[in-house]
Amino acid sequence: MKCKYHTRIKHKFLGDYLSIWLRGVGGKVSLDYVDLFASDGICELDAELESPLIWEGSALLAVKMSEEYKNRWTCYLNELNPTTCTQLKQNLKKYDPWVGEVFNEDANDVIEKILMKIDPNYPSLFFIDPQNHSQLPWRTIEKIANHAGGKLKDSQNLRRPEMIINLMTTGMQRNLDKSPENISLALGMEEDKWREIIDQYHDNGKTYHEGFRDIYCEKLSQIYNVSPVFLSVETKKDSTVFYLIAISSITIPK
Ligand SMILES: C[S@@+](CC[C@H](N)C(=O)[O-])C[C@H]1O[C@@H](n2cnc3c(N)ncnc32)[C@H](O)[C@@H]1O
Repeated sequence: MKCKYHTRIKHKFLGDYLSIWLRGVGGKVSLDYVDLFASDGICELDAELESPLIWEGSALLAVKMSEEYKNRWTCYLNELNPTTCTQLKQNLKKYDPWVGEVFNEDANDVIEKILMKIDPNYPSLFFIDPQNHSQLPWRTIEKIANHAGGKLKDSQNLRRPEMIINLMTTGMQRNLDKSPENISLALGMEEDKWREIIDQYHDNGKTYHEGFRDIYCEKLSQIYNVSPVFLSVETKKDSTVFYLIAISSITIPK
């Protein structure tokens, strides 16, 4: 897969997050890991003067780390494009035998099948990385968030899956007037409602990127009862391309 400079920031973030599991949790509990938009697992930089030119994408990164984990770490990987999916299977061969499955379906359909395989009473982590917001309706996020298990120790909160979501705010901003219906789908909100909120934010000096991010974070925090953390992933000229939003039910309550 051809990648831009900011893709490396995304993989640094994912790698650091997975290191918490690998070295922090260190095998004390099992982990179900899901990559709903996996691509082919290999990144090739789309510019000549940078290095490294080739590195491992999200799927290979997770499978490699799962092999070092001292407990069961199952990887469920999904990619819609059949050619890319075949390449992914090929690229994964270097880590055989690894524990998990590859699916070749629409993420928003296969999610039902994957959730049925995951026991909500144990930890799971979903990496959700579409190319644009129209590929990820809010109802898919809601399904994952509501795959909840028993109460966490010393807490009123249920255990819910951890998620890292790539919120593609560039596409949302660009399509504000061209296809608002896709934004409504991505946010799970009527157009009138989100327009009112982002216009208000805008009047108070927030960018549209920040407005969409805050609506999304607020919706997640209503389900998880904690606030997500986020990272603005930017071009070299400091403009936001997308936000990585991470949510877990085991962070400190609001
Ligand atoms: C941004 S890329 C994923 C990159 C990968 N997660 C990584 O970090 O290495 C998005 C991928 O999602 C795939 N895709 C697009 N729509 C999809 C859908 N509805 N369901 C599953 N995969 C989809 C595309 O073919 C593409 O390979």
